[in-house]
This record gives sequence, structure tokens and C-alpha cells, in this order.
Amino acid sequence: MTGLTSIRTSRNSKIEIVDQLLLPHTTEFIEIDTIEQAHDAIKSMKIRGAPAIASLAALTFSAYLTRALQASPAPAFLSSPDTLKAHVLPLLDFLYSARPTAVNLGAATRRLTKTLQASVDAGKDAKTIAQDLIAEGKNIDGEDVGRNKEMAKQGGEWLINHVKSHDKTGEDLNVLTVCNTGSLATSGYGTALGLITYLHETGKLGKAYFTQSAPYHQGSRLTSLELQTLKIPNVMICDTMVGSLFQNHKIHAVAVGADRIAKNGDTANKIGTYNAAVLAARHNIPFIVVAPVSTVDLDIADGTSIPIEQRPPIEACLVRGALHPPSLNVHGEKEQAVVMITPSDLEGIYNPSFDVTPADLITAIVTEKGVAVREEGELVFDLSSVV
Ligand code: MRU
Repeated sequence: MTGLTSIRTSRNSKIEIVDQLLLPHTTEFIEIDTIEQAHDAIKSMKIRGAPAIASLAALTFSAYLTRALQASPAPAFLSSPDTLKAHVLPLLDFLYSARPTAVNLGAATRRLTKTLQASVDAGKDAKTIAQDLIAEGKNIDGEDVGRNKEMAKQGGEWLINHVKSHDKTGEDLNVLTVCNTGSLATSGYGTALGLITYLHETGKLGKAYFTQSAPYHQGSRLTSLELQTLKIPNVMICDTMVGSLFQNHKIHAVAVGADRIAKNGDTANKIGTYNAAVLAARHNIPFIVVAPVSTVDLDIADGTSIPIEQRPPIEACLVRGALHPPSLNVHGEKEQAVVMITPSDLEGIYNPSFDVTPADLITAIVTEKGVAVREEGELVFDLSSVV
């Protein structure tokens, strides 16, 4: 099954991303040529999703160094390991500063910094060090799809067995997800949406339910499109309907992605995830977090230390989409608009992009290394087997 693409390389070897602000009505790829453009695309959420932004940062960094190696005359910063280091470390810091919560971005820039230092320590010359960095940047992106498939399988099989042992009906599984965690949020296949795709591919999925995920609507704009593209049976709900859904429909699990998982299992994910977790606990519905090892931040003991990004207040006042009924522009595309849904002088606006779900509300955390289950009676996770 082929999903959507968030990052691709054009025929002339340029990095292109699909502008996610225009989806689902317009599919437009934009070129990312510079570190500044990558930073801006991540900050403005033209590309989003923890693994996808790490991939874009790593690929753009690789492309920058590739161009430098091909340039004639060679740029001055390639004259020695020290000048290379002094030049690229601020670039990595700049990329990392684009969004604060998703630790994958920091994991990618830290990994590149480590490669840099290891190559310097090995006594390599500046051009060889640059080649090592280019290869590492490409690896960061390249590893994503394989690990997503692994997590999807491990988490999917765990869920099938878990439901079988608790609920003997053997019916197809209905799974709720929040935000967008599919191929648009990663380099392919997805995390929580990958698990849902795996259930579908193995004939075990009933329906995928997803929240709209206001105010950015990653659910109604992106998850909807991904599920339609994959022909996965799906139902959209407004964020306010999770409790009603659990009261009135059989939901076998909630599966979400993560932007950062603390050492004890506390998990930061899209705003509204915590609400769904509280309601899932109330209804005894397993709540599963699916994320790569690079999302686990062992330096952070618990969720209280996870930095939570506050988006600009104006974003909570706006809704973007196509005009309805549709009106076509001169290119024959659906006309898009951004509409204000509040008084324009509203003063108090609370707009955190993420919330933290405490570990004691999470049933299982899945990475590419396996499934960690919170032991009966324990309030936190031992993640040592899955990192
Ligand atoms: O603000 P976003 O759209 O970048 O938030 C994305 C999420 O919260 C995802 O659930 C998370 O990054 C996991 S993506 C595989």
C-alpha cells in the first residue's frame, strides 16, 4: 500500500516537501534549498510531525554540505576540521531551535554533532568529515520507514493478543487516534497510523477513528487524507466527542504518536491526547503510544520537564481550508481561505501545541525495539527493554 509523501528528492536532486498547510485540497511541493528555508518550513508547520521534521533537518544539512563540497572554489569553512566545526555547529543549533517539543529534531542534530566530533577525533580532514556528515544525515532519514514498519508490527500484534486475552469476542478492532502520525508526519508508513495500517493490512481492523485535532486540524486535514488514500475504513470525530464515542461505540484501543517520552513514560503529544487518555482510562480502553527510540528522552525524568511549545495565539483563532461550496481559481484549483472564528480583539488565548499524558494513563509504549507494558500496580514504565 502506498501512502502520501512528505519529503522527496526531485529529478535534479533538490529536496522538496509537500506544503502541509495547503492539504488536503491542494498538493503543492516546495523546494527546500537552504538551512533557513528548512527552519522556516518546520517553524511554520509546512512540514510537521516529530520524525518528519528531524528527517528534513538532516537531509537539508546533508544537501548543504554536498553543495559545499561541489563548490569551486571550496568555501573557506572546508579548509580545516576546526573551521568546519565552527561553521556547522551553529547551523545545527539553528535547525534544532525551530520547534522545541519534538525531541527527534534534537536527537538528529545531536547525532550529527557526535559524528562530527568522532570524525574530528579520528584525525580526518575537513572534506572527509563533511562526507561522514552527509552520510549520517541521509541515514537519519533512511532509517525511519523500516523502524516504523517494525513498530507497527510489534504494536499491532501486541494489541491483537491483548484484546484477545481480555475480550473473547474476536471482533475486528476499532482504534481511535489523535493528530496525524502517518506518512506525512514521518518518512513513510507512520507510527500510530502505521499500527492502524498494519491492522488493516492483516485484516484485523474494524474502523480507524480520528479526532479533528484543533486548532491545526492535523486530523481532519491530514489523517483523513492518509486514511482515504490507503482505503482504510475511517470515522472522523470532533475533539469534543471522545467521551461520547467511548460511551456509545465499541473502541478497542487508542493509539497515538509522541513528540517526547520521558524516562518514566510520561508522554508529550498533540494537545488533546491527555483528554483522550483520561477518558480511555475511565472506559478501561488500552492506551498505546507508538514512537521510535529517538523520541524517548532518557535525560528527562518525567513529563514536568518536557518543554511545551506555545503556538502563536492567532493560530487558535483561525481555520484554514477550501471555500464551500468550492470555487476554482485560474489554475482550476479549489480556492483556499483562512477564516477568523473569533472576535479580532480577543485578549486571552491559551494555545499550547502539546500536552503531557502521565505514564499511569498509558497501557503500553511501543518502539522499534519492542513493547513496554506498565506493570500492574506500577505508575511508571521501565523503558530499558525498548530503548
Ligand atoms: O504539531 P505537530 O503536527 O508537529 O504534532 C505532531 C504530533 O503531535 C504527532 O502525534 C507526533 O509528532 C508523532 S508523529 C509520528
